[in-house]
Amino acid sequence: MKEKLIELFKASDESVVSGEQLSQQLGVSRVSIWKHIKKLQEMGYDIQSGPKGYQLRENQDLIYSWEFPSRKSKIRYFEEVESTMVKAKELAQENCEDFTVVIADRQKKGRGRLKRYWESEKGGLYFTIVLRPQIAPMMMSRYSFAASVCLAEVLINHYGIHAKVKWPNDILVNNKKISGMLCEMELESNLVSFLNIGIGLNVNNNPQVKEQDVVSMQNLLGNEVSRKEVLSLFLDKFEEKIQKSQLDEIIPEWKKLSVTLNKRVRVVTTTETWEGQALDVDETGALVLKLDDESTKTIFIGDCFHGV
Ligand code: BTN
Repeated sequence: MKEKLIELFKASDESVVSGEQLSQQLGVSRVSIWKHIKKLQEMGYDIQSGPKGYQLRENQDLIYSWEFPSRKSKIRYFEEVESTMVKAKELAQENCEDFTVVIADRQKKGRGRLKRYWESEKGGLYFTIVLRPQIAPMMMSRYSFAASVCLAEVLINHYGIHAKVKWPNDILVNNKKISGMLCEMELESNLVSFLNIGIGLNVNNNPQVKEQDVVSMQNLLGNEVSRKEVLSLFLDKFEEKIQKSQLDEIIPEWKKLSVTLNKRVRVVTTTETWEGQALDVDETGALVLKLDDESTKTIFIGDCFHGV
């Protein structure tokens, strides 16, 4: 009912819609309409009521599933979750569809890479996409690299933000982190049963992180940004990119946006730390380092620090 009301407001040519009109169109009493309007106001919709009826003001940045009409059935919205990674894993294990997107306004225990915490206050974008790709597990990182490239391109092309990618999947602007990504995959008889890609993007939030410099879209642009718009742009671009091709060109595309290559870096894995010159990223997404003894080391998973 609430979703239908929003649809009617958005479809109406008049800015003010009368209670009578709404009750006739939905086949319920005017009291019932009034109760649903109250609920929508509690959910964040700015609906003004006056003598002629109700008016929806479209100045809120709400990310309920029906705010994405073409994807409605595959968007799972939560006001607050522990982590969208947890919800996405549950849904994937319950056989949800490919490209199901779990989004939340807030996360209580947002997860970062290498068991770090990801601050997830209201205003940021926190979502996990469930994918069911038909490719070898070894090639799975092409999807996360594609996600990084698509998100960086959205920031560059639509918002004029000078976004760069840092190995493996961070997005930086002037060396400050604006987005991070976490991937989780489950195999069944050596085939990928699901690959979940979780993305945190600082939009209108102001994260306080001690270990590194961070920035948000609002900090950079000086105004609030619609999370709904950023997410729609990203999902459209990413879906198109992974449908069109086998992603053979994605690593070269990523390299063009990279700030890691040719830098001296330190890479921390769960068990070891390596330092050297970032020589290349191979076709599986692994980072190739030239160590101080001139030997090379290929690292598949780790966290990378520049400026060492
Ligand atoms: C990192 O750079 O350390 C990765 C951060 C990933 C954060 C996102 S927010 C949405 C999804 N849910 C989580 O708990 N983490 C990822």
